[in-house]
Amino acid sequence: MKELLQKIKAEALEAIAAPEADLEEIRVKYLGKKGELTQVLRGMGKLTPEERPVVGALANTVRAEIESAIEERSAEVKAAARAAALKAEKLDVTVPGEEFPVGHFHPLDSVQKQMEEIFIGMGFQIAEGPEVEKSYYNFEALNTPADHPARDIQDTFYITEDILLRSQTSPVQIHVMEEKQPPIRVISPGRVYRADEVDATHSPLFHQCEGIVVDKGITMGDLKGTLEAFAKQMFGSKTRLRFRPHHFPFTEPSAEVDISCFVCGGEGCRVCKGEGWIEILGAGMVHPNVLRNCGIDPEVYSGFAFGMGIERIVMAKYNITDMRLLYENDVRFLKQF
Ligand code: DAH
Repeated sequence: MKELLQKIKAEALEAIAAPEADLEEIRVKYLGKKGELTQVLRGMGKLTPEERPVVGALANTVRAEIESAIEERSAEVKAAARAAALKAEKLDVTVPGEEFPVGHFHPLDSVQKQMEEIFIGMGFQIAEGPEVEKSYYNFEALNTPADHPARDIQDTFYITEDILLRSQTSPVQIHVMEEKQPPIRVISPGRVYRADEVDATHSPLFHQCEGIVVDKGITMGDLKGTLEAFAKQMFGSKTRLRFRPHHFPFTEPSAEVDISCFVCGGEGCRVCKGEGWIEILGAGMVHPNVLRNCGIDPEVYSGFAFGMGIERIVMAKYNITDMRLLYENDVRFLKQF
């Protein structure tokens, strides 16, 4: 029986040491309830009383040795698996990260967004209007009949005699007032078109932002306060406004509005071309004819309106001297904003 135990031990240890050893299977095979060692112990009854403790002790040693061999091998296998995993999943956190180029808004869009936020903050809503427009909305409803000289300046692209590409965002005023009685507080940014040659300050396609407020008791004071709040947020809190008398067919009185130069503060510098002021928009009190054209009673309601060129605002804000840079999509230029 001793020889049998030695044989079992030798076999078990050899199996455990084999490269592909299935340790659980080996444990069951030798130490399990029906395992080989257990069978031997069961046969101990046949031994003489003298032999029994000797064989018993040997069997226990053999069991202990097999158990610890399995444990040791199992620890080894686990350690090897962990080492392999560590090697395979090695992560060097000191390697510099891969940089993904992230784009950003075009300055025309970011300034437009900023404008929208400023006016939304003052309770305005945003309206959109068609770029392909009826002549009526672009001109006649805005108190600009066919023989009005302002139509020369705003010469645009005609699709038919009555349909054109809008030359200003002002027609959105008419759409808004036709649809809704006061109170009205709306801005409308968008594209406009004019038959202009491309140069540093002109483009056949550019952007404007229209604004209109109509309610009872609206005065020029409201216009000034609103535009001043806008200018201070857009160009800085020290910005002052200057209103110069002007003429627009759809407002009376009308004004062109300048901001104090945010570079020199009004003293005159390169940015403001020595003027101290930069023109940014046209504005005025909505002409009674325009209100009437939209079915709003000018005896009850009054309003102000304004229109600004977004390109002009962008150029003033970032000191850009050539408008064409805004359309060329040269990343070296766009990256700066
Ligand atoms: N539409 C005018 C233009 O393109 C700008 C303008 C001036 C709009 C006065 C207005 C306004 O609403 O009241 O030159």
